[in-house]
This record gives sequence, structure tokens and C-alpha cells, in this order.
Amino acid sequence: MYCSEEDLNKIKGKINIKEYVSNKVKLTKKGDIYTGICPFHNSLVSTFIIDEKSQTYGCYECGCSGDVFDFVVNFYKKTFSDAVSMLALVTGIALDKDVCNKDFYKKQKIITIINKAAKDFYQKMLYQNESALRYVKERKLEENTLQMFSIGYSDPKIHIYDELKKQGFDELDIMASGLVADQKKTNKVFLANDRYDKFYNRIIFPIKNENNIVIGFGGRVMDNKKPKYINSKETIAYDKSANLFGLNIARYSKFDYFLLCEGYMDVISMHQAGFDNAIASLGTSLTLNQIIKLSKYKKKIILTYDSDEPGLNAAKRAIPMLESCMINTSIINLNPYKDPDEFIKEVCKDEFLKRVTIADESYPWLIANIMKSDKTLYEQKIENIATIFEEQFKFM
Ligand code: UTP
Ligand code: MN
Repeated sequence: MYCSEEDLNKIKGKINIKEYVSNKVKLTKKGDIYTGICPFHNSLVSTFIIDEKSQTYGCYECGCSGDVFDFVVNFYKKTFSDAVSMLALVTGIALDKDVCNKDFYKKQKIITIINKAAKDFYQKMLYQNESALRYVKERKLEENTLQMFSIGYSDPKIHIYDELKKQGFDELDIMASGLVADQKKTNKVFLANDRYDKFYNRIIFPIKNENNIVIGFGGRVMDNKKPKYINSKETIAYDKSANLFGLNIARYSKFDYFLLCEGYMDVISMHQAGFDNAIASLGTSLTLNQIIKLSKYKKKIILTYDSDEPGLNAAKRAIPMLESCMINTSIINLNPYKDPDEFIKEVCKDEFLKRVTIADESYPWLIANIMKSDKTLYEQKIENIATIFEEQFKFM
């Protein structure tokens, strides 16, 4: 039995997830959210959160997340349609259709379930591999951070494809998740039917959406091989242009601004140093969709892009886009260090905070930056400044 989107929304509209869950889990109010002990894994600390605004739950530690339907599915170990029936009964909404028009939702859902299984598997693998553990230690990642970001490892000897098959997932769904590819490629280890694991001998960074759902993965080599990172392709569950790494945590930060950076490791390092407001747009340039998403939570951004040429250019592009969406921006000076991760490790978090506090206002910084380049003619500099303002107005 499935019901229409409309019926699902009707049910959701009648239930407040906080009230529903508070009968089952003891919740404490913390700012805008409620926290408690996660009912889905053994824990002694409050890592479980309920967000009334988005009507969702999630746990930093075990990664469970979802809406009230997902909660019922997992709490009572029910199927999705049973959960719908249960909540329909609770809310007194009569379900008049048992027609399934939820194909898309179902497909999307199964990919997120596969992603969650893969995340758990990669996490387990990390603790079974000495060189992977050595790598995360060298990068100064603490245990708590590994858990918070569900960091894992794709072991070349133990294939995710085999594991997902063993767990009973359908071949087509596995392929749709992007975790396994079927093209013939050299230097890959082939499995049955030319299948190979996309992530092979890499440290795995699960990418979660703002509601803690694992939508994709990034994988880093542990040496200097290229490419340094590979990332999940887009799937029906993963829209790269509308998600930001770290937003699942940063949206709840006490800071009234985000720290926007370039990479996985920068976000993670900043969080570890107490800057739980760090987010990244992950290898792609910032999009309007991402800005719309982040502006729901905070109206101020301090850019902490790399201090190299690409970082500078990314900032020049991002500032007018953000400002035109009424987001107040400033920009940090990380010199002589390359990125936030390096700065925090080479100097310290207190100095980093100082740099945050004295971040430059964006437009004076941009103009000064353009003016000081000695290779460019004066007229050209003025033109470059004009272009940046045109960019800003283009978005308005
Ligand atoms: P960087 O090359 O600045 O890497 O790429 P990083 O974040 O400092 O990583 P570490 O410290 O060497 O581990 C910034 C981001 O660009 C994307 C990744 O999202 C990365 O975090 N990227 C980079 C890729 O997608 N592919 C690559 O090959 C390199
Ligand atoms: Mn780095």
C-alpha cells in the first residue's frame, strides 16, 4: 500500500515530530533544536537531534536521519507503507488511494539506504586497516571527528559490490548508487560482469545532506597519486549543486555566520578545532542553489578559501553572488598558509579565530586586490572592478 504525495504531506502536516518522538525519547531543548540519547544505537551521550523547523531527526554518531515516517520505520522496524498506515491512523487521515505514485521517492530512498549501508561498511573497514588508520592519525583526526564525519576506508581487498550483494540489494539499485561502475578500465580490479568498486583504496568522506542523509561520497588517496580525490557522480539522491559538505552540523552552530571553504579536510579540521560552522561546496564552484540553501540558516559568511590563485578567483566569483543574495561576506587572510586545515595545524585554533575576527570586508578587499596587481594596466583594473559589480547586479 502506498499513498500519494498529497496524502503523505497531509499526514506530515498533522504531526509534530518533536511531540511524536518525545513520547519515546527524552528530549532536552538546546537553542532551536532538541537533543537526546539516540534510540537507534548504543550511546551514552546526546547525539540525537530533532529539528522542529524542518521536522526531521538525525544523529551525529550513527548517521540515522529522516522525517517522521523514517522514524517510525526504524523505531518500530516497519516497512514504509506500514509506517504510513500507522501515522494515518494516529492523525485520523483516511487514505483513499492505494495507488503507488511514489516510484521516484522509492528509488531515491533505496539509494540512500544503500549509501547508509556503504557508509557503515567503509567505517568498519577503517578500523581493520593499519595504513588507513595511520593516515587519519597523520592528518591529526581524532576519534570523535572520525565518528562525527563517519570517515571510512575502501579496502581494495574487500569489495563494496560483494558486500551490497550479500546484504541483498538489487543489482540495478547498486549500479544506480554509483558506488560500483561497469565500464572496463585499466588498473582496476574486476569483479563479476566487469563490475568494479568506484572507491578503491581511498579514505572515504561520506557526503550528507542538511538532514544527515548520506547522499554521496568523496574518496582521497593516501599518497601522492592522482586524482587526489574522486567523488560520487550525481544520482537521483545527490544533486551536487544543491548541497554543502558540513551543513548537517553547521546549520545548528551557535556562530551566526558560516565559514565557507574549499575542501573536505578543511571543513573537518575546522570542526575539530571548534568551528562547527564550517561548510564547503566541494570541488564545484558555488551555485545559486547552494546559496539559497545556506541562506535559510545564516546571513553572514566568512570566506576561508585557499590562499592560492584558484582560491582567490573562487572568492572573486563567490562574493558578488553571495552579496546579491543579501548575504554579508568577508574574507580571511590565511597567509602564509595554504588552507584552513594547514593553518590550524601549523599555527593553532586561537590564531585562526583571530584571523576570523579580523577578516576583511569583501569589497574593499576585492578592490585593493585588483588594484595592487602590477602586471595589469590601470584601465584594465578599473574594468575588472566594474565587472565584479556587474556580476553582483546580474543576480539581483
Ligand atoms: P584541494 O586540492 O585544495 O585539497 O581540493 P584539500 O582539501 O586541501 O585536501 P588535502 O588537504 O590535500 O587532503 C579542495 C577540494 O576540491 C575537491 C575536493 O572536494 C577537495 O576537498 N577536489 C580536489 C576534487 O574533487 N578532486 C581532486 O582531485 C582534488
Ligand atoms: Mn588541504
